[in-house]
Amino acid sequence: MIEVANRLQTVEEYYFSKKLREVNLLKASGKPIINLGIGSPDLQPPQKVISAITESFADARANQYQSYQGLPELREAMVSFYRDQFDVYLSPTTEVLPLMGSKEGIMHISMAFLNEGDEVLIPNPGYPTYTSVTKLVGAEPVFYDLKEETNWQPDIEALEKLDLSRVKIMWVNYPHMPTGANATEATFTKLVAFAKRNNILIVNDNPYSFVLNDSPKSILSTPGARDCCLELNSLSKTFNMAGWRVGMVLGKTDYINSILKVKSNMDSGMFYGIQKGAIEALKCSKIWYVSLNSVYERRRKLIWQLAKALNCTYSTNTTGMFVWAKLPIYVKAEEFIDLLLKENHIFIAPGNIFGSNGEGYVRFSLCATTEDLEEALARIK
Ligand SMILES: Cc1ncc(COP(=O)(O)O)c(C=O)c1O
Repeated sequence: MIEVANRLQTVEEYYFSKKLREVNLLKASGKPIINLGIGSPDLQPPQKVISAITESFADARANQYQSYQGLPELREAMVSFYRDQFDVYLSPTTEVLPLMGSKEGIMHISMAFLNEGDEVLIPNPGYPTYTSVTKLVGAEPVFYDLKEETNWQPDIEALEKLDLSRVKIMWVNYPHMPTGANATEATFTKLVAFAKRNNILIVNDNPYSFVLNDSPKSILSTPGARDCCLELNSLSKTFNMAGWRVGMVLGKTDYINSILKVKSNMDSGMFYGIQKGAIEALKCSKIWYVSLNSVYERRRKLIWQLAKALNCTYSTNTTGMFVWAKLPIYVKAEEFIDLLLKENHIFIAPGNIFGSNGEGYVRFSLCATTEDLEEALARIK
């Protein structure tokens, strides 16, 4: 038996990778499972995206290796999207790098900037990948608290009291997953000042900006952010293209070049037709966002009813494709979701998988049809 690398001892198989095996087994045994666990959009991408990839097959270049930096038209479309949506002006040649989803960006950025023993500030609760990638590259996670009382905004004064001498990167994720909280302007301003004072690279992971969000924000629009911040974005949720694997990292040329140094040694440019489809998605007009959100709005109302029927409480002033709900006191999240799965065949995510501050909460995904949600509600009532 060949022994695996030491780094594998630092991480476990992703929670959903394990749990979905169990859920799928139940499904295969005939249980009528309603899956509200993961945020994998079930709606279709824009039709012109499908047409673009279909037409791309006729192009002689379609099957060749593609540029590591992506098609110039794709980079152009990405910076135009940032200009139109966030009023952020970037160079298409040097300040954007297309990625195969924002998730891979977390690894590439970590590989580009972290040495063994460096520390990384990670939100608790937060996306588990920040922690696992930090460990995989031999750096150390330092969790910072996000609390409901302060609307899940970081307490910069508390952070400032820590020994920050080894901290190199801080992961920030607004609109926030799993809670749905949005950053205030003050949060971004304080974060930029904090990063400058302490020589920390802040990365805002921003894939949820256009789902049920009245005020999409980019950290790159904060004065001074260009020196110390990067932003990740993605087409997965905004355009229902999660399986296509298209994302981007944006920011200062030197930072982008360092990430390219890693990425160009690990993969080649993404498939031509995917890039052509992505270009069309990024050009969508306002109507796309309005129709997408009208579907999610209807679904969210049903999930609120479902959460209420389960004696959970929730805020209605949130964004994103999840409802984050507080359980009645003394109920453990994993016990609660396991019981719901066993008794009602409804799968939701336990909050503790996002960190200790997620204990006592559960997360419902909006990626299910209204029929399924009505059925779930009927089962509870
Ligand atoms: C906070 C957060 N960041 C990144 C990702 C990954 O998105 P992508 O599909 O762009 O890799 C997710 C997906 O669930 C997420 O919740």
